[in-house]
Amino acid sequence: MSPFEIRTFGDPVLRRAATEVTDIDARLVRLTDDMLTTMYQAPGIGLAAPQVGVQKRLFVYDIGEGPQVLVNPEISESDGEWVYEEGCLSVPGLTFEIVRPKEVHLTGVDLDGNDVSIEADELLARLFQHELDHLDGVLLLEHLEPDEAARAKRALRERALGLGPGGD
Ligand code: NI
Repeated sequence: MSPFEIRTFGDPVLRRAATEVTDIDARLVRLTDDMLTTMYQAPGIGLAAPQVGVQKRLFVYDIGEGPQVLVNPEISESDGEWVYEEGCLSVPGLTFEIVRPKEVHLTGVDLDGNDVSIEADELLARLFQHELDHLDGVLLLEHLEPDEAARAKRALRERALGLGPGGD
């Protein structure tokens, strides 16, 4: 069983900006361990703290190179343009082609409090931008054209009400 239930579209916690982490203590390390377990069981490649109801600026990820944790992450530079079919554990069952910068420079700290500076491109850059959005209370639906966003929200509401994928 996952340590956490992943919050999904409609939960107000996903719309709030998270606050800076001020102390990296044993409790925070435990939180990130539980977030990683939840992410792997989902399964997913990234999970931000607000998705488990915690309003702190941190996320966990693993794009096939082992588990990673980033605390107080910021994107300082971005460049290029890349289209990717993006999904989100908080928007289950739906993916969307979204254009975002192809490369980003991300800074933050790790669980030992050491500064981290990562030049990322393509999938990792996309993941960073997606998780940063979660920390600012933004879901990927906000990157869609209004009509596509409306269709997606209707599908999600119908699913939440147990109405299935919803006819025509
Ligand atoms: Ni997400």
